[in-house]
Amino acid sequence: MRLEGKTALITGSDQGIGQGIAIRFAQEGANVVVNYRRNEKGAEETKTRIEQLGRHAAIVQADVSQVAETRRLLRDGIKALGPVDILVNNAGMEINADFVDVTEEDYRRVIDTNMTSAFFLTQEFARHRREEKRPGRVINISSVHEELPFPHFTAYVMSKAGMKLMMRNLAIELAPLGITVNNIAPGAIETPINRKLFENKELLDALMENIPLKRIGKPEDVAGIAVFLASSDADYVTGASIFVDGGLLWNYSEQ
Ligand SMILES: NC(=O)c1ccc[n+]([C@@H]2O[C@H](COP(=O)([O-])OP(=O)(O)OC[C@H]3O[C@@H](n4cnc5c(N)ncnc54)[C@H](O)[C@@H]3O)[C@@H](O)[C@H]2O)c1
Repeated sequence: MRLEGKTALITGSDQGIGQGIAIRFAQEGANVVVNYRRNEKGAEETKTRIEQLGRHAAIVQADVSQVAETRRLLRDGIKALGPVDILVNNAGMEINADFVDVTEEDYRRVIDTNMTSAFFLTQEFARHRREEKRPGRVINISSVHEELPFPHFTAYVMSKAGMKLMMRNLAIELAPLGITVNNIAPGAIETPINRKLFENKELLDALMENIPLKRIGKPEDVAGIAVFLASSDADYVTGASIFVDGGLLWNYSEQ
């Protein structure tokens, strides 16, 4: 077990990638603060799965797009399970709209949920680790779209690209506190965020053409890398983006 004695807080761990990381962390010996916004049933399911593995879990409802909520989330997590060693900024959302039609409200929802949340939660986490005089790990779930354009999702790519430079900056600034900061950049992973894609065979076939490994990823594919980054195997890794995309990002060929 690679995370024995550690406690992790994972935003949006009621389903999808966040839930996959929570369960995998518990398999590796970690206790987990489970966060959700609306899907309480999913959060309960994650907690049950963690407890079945003999680990502790605490559920904290919080809307991480609200700065005050991110602060309360960490505080309540610490109250429930003690000091938090690992923060996974996973919560995220996307809104599909032509650039000319994007509303201010939708723009702010995407930026605040995906990027502002990670900024202020990481700030609270860094303060907490400084008080504890203990090192820490920050893992952001960004996307191949921290690099790759995604027409009709401009706020989304901006939020993920912002996460990339935030991560590189904080890798330097938080190093004196012993906190490493890295991104996992997934490609197409089978989760509820992609429901519409999986219901449309044409779209799915076109996407598959772009994936050299010829399959959609699973939350477990991402979770394995999260365990690595949270473990002592990654003690000397900071400021990195690890792509988990079946080769999608750099796929280019000429016939
Ligand atoms: N699935 C993919 O193909 C893919 C690819 C690249 C990146 N990602 C990223 O992975 C992360 C997880 O997405 P997923 O695929 O599991 O999708 P998902 O829709 O299943 O999960 C999103 C999670 O974010 C949480 N969330 C959303 N808004 C929130 C808020 N305001 N406060 C608290 N929690 C909130 C939800 O509760 C949910 O648990 C996201 O950041 C997403 O951008 C996903």
